[in-house]
Amino acid sequence: MKILFLGDIVGRSGRTAIIDNLTHLREEWRLDFVVVNGENASNGVGLTGAHAKLLLAAGVDCLTLGDHAFDQRDMAQFIETEPRIIRPLNYAKTAPGKGARVFDVPGGRKILVAQVLGQVFMKRPFDDPFSAIDQVLRSHPLGGLVNASLVDMHCEATSEKMGMGHYCDGRASIVVGTHTHVPTSDAMILPGGTAYQTDAGMCGDHNSVIGMEKTEPMRRFVTGMGKGRFTPAEGKATLSGLYVETDDRSGKATRVEMVRSGGLLQQSGP
Ligand SMILES: [Fe+2]
Ligand SMILES: [Fe+2]
Repeated sequence: MKILFLGDIVGRSGRTAIIDNLTHLREEWRLDFVVVNGENASNGVGLTGAHAKLLLAAGVDCLTLGDHAFDQRDMAQFIETEPRIIRPLNYAKTAPGKGARVFDVPGGRKILVAQVLGQVFMKRPFDDPFSAIDQVLRSHPLGGLVNASLVDMHCEATSEKMGMGHYCDGRASIVVGTHTHVPTSDAMILPGGTAYQTDAGMCGDHNSVIGMEKTEPMRRFVTGMGKGRFTPAEGKATLSGLYVETDDRSGKATRVEMVRSGGLLQQSGP
């Protein structure tokens, strides 16, 4: 299976880059399934139903969210009507929507997509992501119920993401980090056959502070005082993430390539 995962879409710049380029990338790379994190797609915080519809129509098969899952109020209702949107498994016991779901892939194949939130350095406390994902992976064995599986590990600390990668090694096809918006250069296949990258990076303008127009965040860092709100940077976005090929029978990753397309970052792809 040929799978593309792209990290957090930040604002209009990231949305436009997806809408303008994904159809072409799907064809060029012959993608079977595309997962994109959309937690910052609407004005930098959360995802509206209207923007979700546009992204899904542009060729995204599954949108994951994160700690900002319900920052746009309509998502609480919208997620119940749109099974292609996944929120973190351990967001809250009463949260609407689902944290994991099996999707159909052309050729009669199936892929599990799940998302978990980490606990280290996060602004709010969340339940243990390791026990949450363990249950889901046990009930969706590779080579059994599903041909492939992807875990989006949404958290701040690189160490916690790596811990999750090794925890799922051999049990998930892909473990990829999101939330920090800066791609790490450690794409690899772990010993058990799981494709891994600590952070996918964002789909946003890198002439910014993690996707936000840089003036206000810099003022806060330099003076310690804020004056206004953060708004997404509006320059050209880099689409940033991971391309993975998996074996349909074993579910193990056979190839992994870092993806950086358009915008300021050095370009890379399969
Ligand atoms: Fe994010
Ligand atoms: Fe986040």
